[in-house]
Amino acid sequence: MEDRVIIFDTTLRDGEQSPGASMNTNEKIRLALQLEKLGVDVLEAGFPAASDGDFEAVSQIAGKIKKMEVAALARTTHDDIDRAWQAIKHATNPKIHTFIATSEIHMLHKLRLTREQVLEKTVEAVRRACSYTDRVEFSAEDGSRSDRDFLCKVFGAAIEAGATTLNLPDTVGYAIPTEFGDLVRYVREHTPNIHKARISVHCHNDLGLATANTLSAIMAGARQAEVTINGIGERAGNASLEELVMCLHTRSNDLPMKTNINTTLIHPTSRLVRMITGMMVQPNKAIVGANAFAHEAGIHQDGVLKNPMTYEIMKPETVGLNRNLMVLGKHSGRHALRTHLKDMGYDLSDEELKLVFGKFKDLCDKKKYVLDEDLEVLVTEGVLRTAEIFDIQYLHVTCGTTVLPMASVKLSINGRTVKGAGYGNGPIDAVYNTIAELTNAQTELLRFTVSAISGGTDAQGEVTVRLQQDGIVALGRGADPDIITASARAYINGLNRLEYLKHNRNENNGNDLEESGI
Ligand code: KIV
Ligand code: ZN
Repeated sequence: MEDRVIIFDTTLRDGEQSPGASMNTNEKIRLALQLEKLGVDVLEAGFPAASDGDFEAVSQIAGKIKKMEVAALARTTHDDIDRAWQAIKHATNPKIHTFIATSEIHMLHKLRLTREQVLEKTVEAVRRACSYTDRVEFSAEDGSRSDRDFLCKVFGAAIEAGATTLNLPDTVGYAIPTEFGDLVRYVREHTPNIHKARISVHCHNDLGLATANTLSAIMAGARQAEVTINGIGERAGNASLEELVMCLHTRSNDLPMKTNINTTLIHPTSRLVRMITGMMVQPNKAIVGANAFAHEAGIHQDGVLKNPMTYEIMKPETVGLNRNLMVLGKHSGRHALRTHLKDMGYDLSDEELKLVFGKFKDLCDKKKYVLDEDLEVLVTEGVLRTAEIFDIQYLHVTCGTTVLPMASVKLSINGRTVKGAGYGNGPIDAVYNTIAELTNAQTELLRFTVSAISGGTDAQGEVTVRLQQDGIVALGRGADPDIITASARAYINGLNRLEYLKHNRNENNGNDLEESGI
């Protein structure tokens, strides 16, 4: 059996299904290119039938990726499969990923289909996908709660119809590791012609077991893992790429299986996902959390100073922490900035570099050293967030112990300038009230968090907001050395994302995605 595990990254598809974590096309392309550098084998770029926006993003990604397989998700309908193919047909290595639920509860209550009908739809969908490409993956949604023999029958039929990858999802995160490993073994032993296909697994994290279940499946013979960066995804998320890869890396004596991942790019990729989606990572998250390599107890610190391996099972450098000790400052020129950004994976056009360089110089006036984390903010906010509806042109705030907090704000809304002033309980409340007035936003602020991007009192503050309007939730993120400006940016970013989601929802009208259950 192969000793390599294929890494199938679904951050752009299942990850984007995290509440509020929408990404625009520029952001998706940037992330796709980073995942290629990271060493991902298969990139699930999206679900083209979901909306015109999704179709466009998948299509653009397909045109830019050279090494990875680019997969597009499709239900078993002809329309979905044709749409998926249209979006990826110009990719170097296009792949169609089609799925249907196989558990009794899904077939009976969601799909209202009999076992025979599900079997028929599987065969028809896989055949149609195979008429376009040899790279076809079939997923049995809710596979972990399906009748085992029916599951093997469906998988056998999918292989016969031409599928080369069979994916076993634990869609609702219900499985436990021993049971899930057993299920993979059962599938290997009871599916006709299973040697013709690769077994993949796709685990959700509802019980916090997604990585453990994935690992158990690999030990039982699965050779593809569907994962996301930072573990983002539907509900409690998916198995996280960094956890799985570092398990295999760190315990290579006991788990002699390789991946293609360049582990030193794990941290930068994790930061990029955090930056683009606005989804923070919990500090104690394995591998990529802020505390993952921080030793607090004196006894631990003493041990680590004497020999890091006393308390560290992985070196921080292995996952790309402290990777780049070169810092830029106000004496750094355009060429140094371009070279540094290129090393970080940002290949900017002259126009983009000019924009980022201007922002870099502004930041140097406020901050002595500019770190990679700061540069990522400049690029994501300056280059990737283009052509948005709302933009801040000017912000002035007065506050203190003896004055009523007041904000004056000038915004551009679709290129038109508007300005106004307002009061609030505090400076941020004043800014938010004024922006809400100017944009006519009827949003509810569900959450507001502030943190520092790096150490030091001159660090940039990073603000994340969670906004809700008409049942749609969007995350917004903003950074600046001044936390009031960062707060305003986060709010504006959230409003832009809400607009994007509303637009996508309107496009979806008539296309009943709820029925797909994903
Ligand atoms: O969780 C799930 O079952 C999925 C499938 C579409 C693979 O995301
Ligand atoms: Zn999923």
